[in-house]
Amino acid sequence: MEEERLLGGAVRRDEEADMSLRPRTMAEYVGQEKVKSNLSVFIEAAKKRGESLDHVLLYGPPGLGKTTLAGVIATEMGVSLRITSGPAIEKPGDLAAILTNLMVSDVLFIDEIHRLNRSVEEILYPAMEDYALDIMIGKGPSARSIRLDLPRFTLIGATTRAGMLTSPLRDRFGIINRLELYTEGELTRIVNRSAGILGIFIDPAASVEIARRSRGTPRVANRLLRRVRDFAEIRSDGQITMDVAQYGLNALDVDLLGLDGTDRVILNAIIRKFDGGPVGLDTLAATTGEEPDTIEDVYEPFLLQLGFIQKTPRGRKATRLAYAHLGVPYGGDAESGQVVFSD
Ligand SMILES: Nc1ncnc2c1ncn2[C@@H]1O[C@H](COP(=O)(O)OP(=O)(O)OP(=O)(O)O)[C@@H](O)[C@H]1O
Ligand SMILES: [Mg+2]
Repeated sequence: MEEERLLGGAVRRDEEADMSLRPRTMAEYVGQEKVKSNLSVFIEAAKKRGESLDHVLLYGPPGLGKTTLAGVIATEMGVSLRITSGPAIEKPGDLAAILTNLMVSDVLFIDEIHRLNRSVEEILYPAMEDYALDIMIGKGPSARSIRLDLPRFTLIGATTRAGMLTSPLRDRFGIINRLELYTEGELTRIVNRSAGILGIFIDPAASVEIARRSRGTPRVANRLLRRVRDFAEIRSDGQITMDVAQYGLNALDVDLLGLDGTDRVILNAIIRKFDGGPVGLDTLAATTGEEPDTIEDVYEPFLLQLGFIQKTPRGRKATRLAYAHLGVPYGGDAESGQVVFSD
């Protein structure tokens, strides 16, 4: 599909080209005030005692700054960061090799930690709890297990799905933080900061406009800023004025609330094909051509925050607000799920 995705894989490429936009310190990291202030205390306390930081679990929708925050934590602790991911660690031996190469207090970041396979996860339990590695030597009746000491490291796990973590794993994190969608004001600061780093001139009102349409997500804000800059350079004099921002955002199919084409496909499916719902996630996925995980992780958090959908035990329902936004006459009762047409 040629269509440019605002939330999909192509985003990563842009990000790699613009590592400069990633905040490196707590002071540069915008928003998430509660998480930051708590973490700052834990970091300062660990440093004061000369200990490693306790293991940290970060969860929340994609693009909210989990990977970035892991880097910030390592910087603030003054230690090295080693990055890997659940699917990248195939065998217990792969993880053992990573663990034995860590230095005291180093941060090991495991992205998508809910995707670790079971045999790898079992290596993590003693590693996290006792800083020990249990290795089996030999096979059959003569096999025996020996225990190796590991440096006292900090594991930072990130996931979009805290609910998919096994409880033995979740219970071994001493610090658990959920990242929230960002406010318009915070996103405005992020857009201004990024524009400054990239050397883009942007009107204050245009920053707010981009922020407002970024669905609470810094990754989307940076992405929209870059794309609007393209419009400014090609269709105008390079400066992002309010007019250019609105023109670019409309051309990108991002509506006034930040919904993109896929959001509208999802809402339209619930409303028009399923009379407002409830409709099950898998049915909705099949109807819209999106993966169930993508709907749940990427699209739903923002639609829920807007109050456009409700999750019920029987599936997703569109609310009165969603009908109003799409300009569809509302004939149902969002509370009961009964759709009653008046004519
Ligand atoms: N608090 C923040 N302040 C400023 N910029 C931020 C902040 N959080 C994230 N960003 C920007 O948003 C981009 C995406 O953040 P990041 O990669 O850390 O998200 P993530 O939560 O790890 O996403 P995923 O779940 O997809 O891995 C970063 O490149 C960074 O530039
Ligand atoms: Mg990440």
